[in-house]
Amino acid sequence: MLFDTHAHLDDDRFDEDRRQIIEQCKAEGVELILNAASNLETSLSSIALSKEYDFIYASVGVHPHDAKSMDNKTTEILSDLAANTKVKAIGEIGLDYHYDFSPREVQKQRFMEQIDLAKQLKLPIIVHDRESHGDIMDIFNKMNVSGMGGVLHSFSGSVEMARECLKLGFYLSVSGPLTFKNNVKTVEVVREIPLDMLLIETDSPYLTPAPYRGQRNYPGHVRYVAEKIAEIKGLTFDEVARTTLENGKKLFNI
Ligand code: NI
Repeated sequence: MLFDTHAHLDDDRFDEDRRQIIEQCKAEGVELILNAASNLETSLSSIALSKEYDFIYASVGVHPHDAKSMDNKTTEILSDLAANTKVKAIGEIGLDYHYDFSPREVQKQRFMEQIDLAKQLKLPIIVHDRESHGDIMDIFNKMNVSGMGGVLHSFSGSVEMARECLKLGFYLSVSGPLTFKNNVKTVEVVREIPLDMLLIETDSPYLTPAPYRGQRNYPGHVRYVAEKIAEIKGLTFDEVARTTLENGKKLFNI
């Protein structure tokens, strides 16, 4: 009854045991997984995984880290790939000012182009925002994203920003860091935001929740995120699992 709305099972850290891990997820109650792409290569590998497994869906898109690798043909290629019926979103796209692997102006430009593409294709967007909250909101306003649908993945902003995103119709997704002892900010966001606007994810193999911090993450660990939300909001685990599953199905049209 769990939906891990953001994983990277095509990552090479799963090369040794991918099939086994995927079977294990299913056995552990993970009903759906959205495998997020971060460049053209992983857009293809996400689609390949989604074709192999009924319960895995895919996104296509270019992460801000790889924004500098995009050229004028990239959005056309993404558009062709998105025609696959298992592709449910454009992502992950956005801004990353923590690493600055691509120049900021290039990141912004490519983010806006992919928002345009998602609008044309009527697909929701999966947004990556790291230390770039102000520019993300500026672009949202400039691009008139209200109502197009999307999610801020592994949300790390404030309650105020969360409320702005909800007004635009975006979901907020929370991941392993919610379970970290020092994460007061995201706990507050989860407390303030209605359950029907929250999604859960692992971002596997990254962002492993407590008590497994330091190990490779995998979608089965999404249950720790659901448990933490239940604890914060005073709800049952089942209620959180069921509602976040329904939220994800609604957003991604599954
Ligand atoms: Ni990711």
